[in-house]
Amino acid sequence: MTLSSAQQPGLFIAFEGGDGAGKSTQAALLTQAMSDAGRTVLRTREPGGTPVGEKLRSLVLEHGQGEIDAKTEALIFAAARAAHATQVIAPAVARGEIVISDRYADSSIAYQGAGRGLGTEAIVKLNDWATSGLWPDLTVLLDVSPAEGRERRTAGDAAEDRMESEPDDFHATIRAAFLELAQANPQRYLVLPADGAVSELAQVIRDRINALLGTA
Ligand code: TYD
Repeated sequence: MTLSSAQQPGLFIAFEGGDGAGKSTQAALLTQAMSDAGRTVLRTREPGGTPVGEKLRSLVLEHGQGEIDAKTEALIFAAARAAHATQVIAPAVARGEIVISDRYADSSIAYQGAGRGLGTEAIVKLNDWATSGLWPDLTVLLDVSPAEGRERRTAGDAAEDRMESEPDDFHATIRAAFLELAQANPQRYLVLPADGAVSELAQVIRDRINALLGTA
C-alpha cells in the first residue's frame, strides 16, 4: 500500500553553500528523484519564493540601489524569509509535502552574521522570530572553496551580483561559518565536498533523505 502525500510526514530540506557550490543542480536532481518516488515536492529558493520576496531579492542583490548597510541587508533577507516561511514552506510541510529550498536562514547566519560581522546570535534570534521557529529538518551543505566557487560562477558569463562580487576573504569567512554551523549540529546537516561528481553527490543526498523518510 502506498500512502498518499497527505498521510506521509512532510519534510523541509535546505541546500546551503557558498556561491558557485552547485546547490541548484543538486536541488533539481533531488526534486526529480523525490517526484519520481511519488512524493509531492515543492522546490523554492531564497531570497524569493513569494511575490514580495522576489521584489526584495532584486532590491538586495542588484547593484545600484545606493548604500545597503549590514543591518538593512539582514532585515531585507529576514523579511523575504518571513513571507516564505509563513506563506509557502510551513503550509506545504503541513500538507505532507517535501520542501526543497535553495538557501534558507543559515545563509543569513553565514553572510550577514559572519560575513558582515553582525554576529550569529543576533541573526539566529532575528530569523527565529521571522520564521516563527521554522528550521529545516536537514540542511545539505555543499562545501566549496572561494577560488573554486569563483571559477564555477564565472564559467557561465552571468554578471556577479552584490554578494558574489565580494572578495575571496569574504567568501572564506562564509565557508568557515557554514562549516561551524554543521559541526555544532551534525545530525541536522549533510556536508559534502562541492567538487564531487554530480551523480555521486546526488546519490548520497538521496540516501540520506530516504533514511530520514524511513524508505531506505
Ligand atoms: P543567488 O543568485 O540565489 O545565489 P546562489 O545561486 O549562489 O544561491 O543569490 C543569493 C545571494 O544572496 C548569495 O550570494 C547569498 C546571498 N544571501 C545572503 O547574503 N543572505 C541570505 O539570507 C540569503 C538567502 C542569501
